[in-house]
Amino acid sequence: MQVIFMGLPGAGKGTQAERIVEEFGIPHISTGDMFRAAMAEGTPLGLKAKEYVDRGQLVPDEVTIGIVRERLSRSDTKKGFLLDGFPRTVPQAEALETALDEMGRKIDVVIHLEVKRETLLERLTGRRICRSCGATYHVIFNPPKEEGKCDKCGGELYQRADDSVETVATRLDVNIRQQEPLLRFYETRGLLRSVNGEAEIDEVFAQISNILRGVE
Ligand code: AP5
Ligand code: ZN
Repeated sequence: MQVIFMGLPGAGKGTQAERIVEEFGIPHISTGDMFRAAMAEGTPLGLKAKEYVDRGQLVPDEVTIGIVRERLSRSDTKKGFLLDGFPRTVPQAEALETALDEMGRKIDVVIHLEVKRETLLERLTGRRICRSCGATYHVIFNPPKEEGKCDKCGGELYQRADDSVETVATRLDVNIRQQEPLLRFYETRGLLRSVNGEAEIDEVFAQISNILRGVE
């Protein structure tokens, strides 16, 4: 099962990915998570990514494509994968297609989580993340049982640097610009399936699971 999650920042890609991984057992490949891990470790990749991520801009295609190619070459992707936040530009989508061609593989489905801009602003500014296990919460829509503490591992919850009101606006604009041509790219290949991402988390999960059971 080779799946892409598409959606603007805050659409719920990471939230749904956590559940899909549990249900279907495929690895979750998030370029955002990979950049944040590299930034936390202070590696050369992390230092490069930080210039863009903290400002809400896209990391250059050649950097992003390189890390995804490397990740897809690892053996755990043989049973499939869930790409979250990649591709985000048409050159990235073309590079992915070429890389998968070389491996004799292809994308089965692209799931687009559709959510309005106003909703996204609200979701992003209220998001909290576990420092230990990476689980995602929202102060209103998906609060932890105990404030500031992860339900799963007891870790401390924090707010991402790029979830500030100013950076969120830039991120949304940058991503809205890139999204249209990318949707057309997958539409013409007959791979695009849209899901109403405004619904409740469980409801969105049910819609996505239905689609994935169809491609299993
Ligand atoms: P990345 O980490 O991918 O961030 P993003 O695309 O901005 O997406 P988010 O993680 O913010 O949102 P999400 O859709 O996962 O939403 P979530 O589930 O958390 O990328 C970060 C940066 O890295 C980019 O800005 C860029 O600089 C760089 N980068 C990454 N990939 C790149 C690429 N391919 N090319 C170039 N640069 C790249 O949900 C959000 C909140 O809403 C949460 O609090 C959640 O609890 C809540 N929520 C979720 N679903 C619902 C629901 N149904 N109802 C109510 N609340 C909900
Ligand atoms: Zn945790």
